[in-house]
Amino acid sequence: MAVHTAVPAPIDPAELAATLRPLGSAHILPRAAYADDRVLTWELERFFDATWVVLGRADAIAPGSQRAMRAGSEQVLLTRDAAGELRAFYDVCRHRGHELLAVGSESRKRAIRCPYHAWAYGLDGQLRAAPRFDGGSGFDPGQFGLLPMRMAVWHGWIFVNPDGEADPLDDYLGNLDELVSDWEPERLVAVERHDYEVAANWKLIVENYHECYHCPSIHPALCRVSPPDSSRDLEARGMFAGGPMLLMDHAETMSLDGRSLGQPLPRLDAQRLREVHYFGVFPNLLLSLHPDYVMTHRLEPLAAGRSRIECEWLFPAEAVERPRFSPRYAADFWDLTNREDWQACEAVQRGVRSRGFRPGPLAGRESTVYQFDTMVARGYLEGTVRPPEPVEAPTATR
Ligand code: FES
Ligand SMILES: [Fe+2]
Repeated sequence: MAVHTAVPAPIDPAELAATLRPLGSAHILPRAAYADDRVLTWELERFFDATWVVLGRADAIAPGSQRAMRAGSEQVLLTRDAAGELRAFYDVCRHRGHELLAVGSESRKRAIRCPYHAWAYGLDGQLRAAPRFDGGSGFDPGQFGLLPMRMAVWHGWIFVNPDGEADPLDDYLGNLDELVSDWEPERLVAVERHDYEVAANWKLIVENYHECYHCPSIHPALCRVSPPDSSRDLEARGMFAGGPMLLMDHAETMSLDGRSLGQPLPRLDAQRLREVHYFGVFPNLLLSLHPDYVMTHRLEPLAAGRSRIECEWLFPAEAVERPRFSPRYAADFWDLTNREDWQACEAVQRGVRSRGFRPGPLAGRESTVYQFDTMVARGYLEGTVRPPEPVEAPTATR
């Protein structure tokens, strides 16, 4: 990460000390981390604006279109011109700062027209017209193009760095690329998407993703296709954490009956055809790599206790083109599991808000949660996030 002036989060450092103890005596994050909107405001600037935030699939932005989205504390305007070039701009007019497009909206117009005084920009960001503007003879439209936001596309996903100062995306992700590239996500297409709004802090959703200790209690269907104690962490030399879990012997993939209606991804070896790899990419992408499809959760914090989650299922064209293909075998299974998870996360959110809440201890099998929580706690103290540190497991099992 680039060096920033460290501004610690508005959280008592003494409370964070308990999170930073070795696994075995470490506790989860303090209440303010989950329930205080001032902490979220801080996080949006330091954990989102200062890093690489995922916005979704690049092929979702069609040629000749524009879309406004939230990225950390900012709004970004994504455009793709007729020639196919994808660009990202701050969603701000160069005249008096009106937003150009409201977050969540899309337009197929050839120009970006500011709703306030009708300045018009091309999809390349150049100012094309400033109707009835009489700002003097020295006015040079060439000086008033839209400001680009730093953007990169990785395996088909759009990432932006709103403050423009993060390390290059490849350095930021570190060895994640070598762990993911055999799934060739850039070849896959999103066939199904579910949007959820969950009354829980975004980090509760990440923590929940990072352990299967809860699986026997709330995911009976999942436990029929994947042994809940089979997860292990892979070494992360980048801004992510996670690793594989096994499939049960009878299961080809994660689905209600364990059967796949798709096709195994061609570059996966025999071992990875028997596993599902789960990675949480900091801050807002959960990447689940199956033998035959890829699922993602994209998180967008709305408030300390509220998050939007966009879940997508990606398949290779050769599977989608099969006569009786349907993504339902994957989407039905995970929609059920998602809802079980959201219920648990919402119940935890209600708990952490209580004055009866005290941060509790993490088990050895919650080592990935520990990696994430310590990354967050160190980030709160230092004002900037670094990759997780290797965990010294107190016990051999997770
Ligand atoms: S603020 Fe956009 S045209 Fe005036
Ligand atoms: Fe779960």
